[in-house]
Amino acid sequence: MTEHGSPQGSQALESLAKDFAAKLAERYRIDSESAYAATLEMWMNNRKLCDQAAREPDPQRLKRTRIYKQAAEKAKASTYNSLRKYKQQAERMTDGVSTLIELADQGVDSTDPRATAARDQIVGSHVSTRERLPDLDGFHTHLFELIPEPTSILDIGCGLQPLLYPFHDAGQITSTYLGLDRDASVVEAVDTWARVIGGERLEARQWSLSEGFDGVVGPEPNGEFKLALGLKLIPVLSRQERKRLPLFRDVPAQRLLITGARHAMVKRRSIERRERASLVGFADELGFEVLETFETPTELGLLLETR
Ligand SMILES: C[S@@+](CC[C@H](N)C(=O)[O-])C[C@H]1O[C@@H](n2cnc3c(N)ncnc32)[C@H](O)[C@@H]1O
Repeated sequence: MTEHGSPQGSQALESLAKDFAAKLAERYRIDSESAYAATLEMWMNNRKLCDQAAREPDPQRLKRTRIYKQAAEKAKASTYNSLRKYKQQAERMTDGVSTLIELADQGVDSTDPRATAARDQIVGSHVSTRERLPDLDGFHTHLFELIPEPTSILDIGCGLQPLLYPFHDAGQITSTYLGLDRDASVVEAVDTWARVIGGERLEARQWSLSEGFDGVVGPEPNGEFKLALGLKLIPVLSRQERKRLPLFRDVPAQRLLITGARHAMVKRRSIERRERASLVGFADELGFEVLETFETPTELGLLLETR
C-alpha cells in the first residue's frame, strides 16, 4: 500500500513502474529490477502521485494524468543523474582504499588475496576500468602486440588503470609506470597499490594537463617514456579543455596510444563514430602520424607517433 494512497492505487503504480523500468532498462545502462525499485521508491514517496493513484487506480488512465507524467520525468532524470556520476561507486572505492592502506601498513604484499580483493574492489568502482575487466587479458594482449617492449609507460589521466600493473606475459617487461591524474583520490589509490607491490616501479602523481609536461621525466634517453597512454581521455579533453590539447606536442614519449569508449556510459547506444572522430581530429590537429588502430569489445583507439 502507498503511504498516502489506497491499495488499488499502489497496484496501479506498481504496474506502471514495471513497464516504466523495463523501458528505462532498454535505454539506459541499468537492469530493470534496480530501475523498478528506484522508481517505485520515488513514486511511493510522492504524495501527490499517490493521492492521484488512489483517485484514479486504472493504470492506463493514471498514465495520462499530468501528475503521473511529471513523476515519470523526475524518475527518468533521477536515473540518468545517478548513472551519470562518474565514479558510480565512490563508497566502494573509499572502502577499498582504506582496506588497502591498512594492509600496506601491515606490510602485506600483492600475493595476499586480501590485497588483490581490495584492489579488485577499487578497480571495479570506476566505470572506465570496470568496463575492461571482463576482457582484461584481451586488452593487455592486444596492447603488448601493438607496442613491443614498452619498458616504461606514462599513463596520462590514468584513473585506476595503474592498479592493474604489474602486467603478465609480454607486459612483464614494463619496469617503470608513472600515472598522472588530477583526481587526488585516484592518486592515493595508485600510490597505495604501489606500496603493496613494492619497489619503485609504480608511481602516481597529482597533475593537471594545464601544467604541461615540463616536469614529467621518464627513464629512457632524453628523459622519455617508451609509451604514453591516454586511455579514454582525449574525447573528454576535447569537450572540456580543447584549447589545451596542443600541450600534447610535448608529451615525453614517441608513441602515444589514445582510446575512446565504444558504448555510452549511461545510455545503451554506440558512440563509436563520435569517439573515433575525436581521436582522429586530435591526431590531425597535432600532426601526429597514425601507426596502428586498436580495438577491443569496449574500446577503440589509435597508436600515434608524436615526432
Ligand atoms: C574517462 S577517465 C579514464 C581513466 C583511465 N585512463 C582509464 O581509461 O581507465 C578520465 C581520467 O582523466 C582524468 N582527467 C580529466 N581531465 C584531466 C586533466 N585536465 N588533467 C589531468 N587528469 C584529467 C580524470 O580525473 C579521470 O581519471
